[in-house]
Amino acid sequence: MWYVSPNNLMSALILEHMRPEHIATVAELETLCFGVHWTPTNFRKELDNPRCCYYVAIEDGRVVGYLGYWQILEEAHITSIGVHPDFRRRRVSQRLMCRMLEECQAREIKWITLEVKANNMQAQKLYEKFGFAVMGRRKNYYQKEQIDALIMWTEDVSLPAFQARLNQLQSEIQDIERQERSVS
Ligand SMILES: CC(C)(COP(=O)(O)OP(=O)(O)OC[C@H]1O[C@@H](n2cnc3c(N)ncnc32)[C@H](O)[C@@H]1OP(=O)(O)O)[C@@H](O)C(=O)NCCC(=O)NCCS
Repeated sequence: MWYVSPNNLMSALILEHMRPEHIATVAELETLCFGVHWTPTNFRKELDNPRCCYYVAIEDGRVVGYLGYWQILEEAHITSIGVHPDFRRRRVSQRLMCRMLEECQAREIKWITLEVKANNMQAQKLYEKFGFAVMGRRKNYYQKEQIDALIMWTEDVSLPAFQARLNQLQSEIQDIERQERSVS
């Protein structure tokens, strides 16, 4: 099932704050990306929590990706990021991360952290691209599969070096968006 956005005439990817009408599709994406994980009820609670912020990526009226984080004082903890398998390697998650980081800077958040499975190389590559580094490991954190969690952190995202990295990643996206517009 796809959530059909009122903007369903647009072919370019758009990013929006997640709203209750996106929950069913995001929960389906969560299952596609992670197997059984968070339910619609979990997402409903997240949307009700003022510390949580979720975005969705929508293409042709379909939610194709999502990202969420919790703000805890000057830190943001990324809770989940997932992209529909048919839409991967098109910089959907890179766009979601750029959007999130811009908002974190506006909220004066300084450090971003997350946990990632030690064997999830594609996600680690994504986070490394954004300057995340491994700062710790939780042994068998994913108990069922007996996989360790790596704990990754950014440097202070308000520093000029981080801003330069973010500018570079955003300009990659702008190039892609220009190409998308020229074919649509
Ligand atoms: C990880 C995931 C979110 C990446 O989404 P995506 O939209 O395909 O990623 P993007 O196209 O934006 O790629 C951005 C960067 O991520 C890294 N990356 C993404 N997919 C990769 C892959 N299959 N192999 C290696 N690197 C990859 C690369 O550094 C890439 O930059 P590049 O294209 O310049 O090399 C997606 O594969 C997914 O949903 N996986 C299942 C859920 C999951 O593992 N979530 C993370 C939980 S911690």
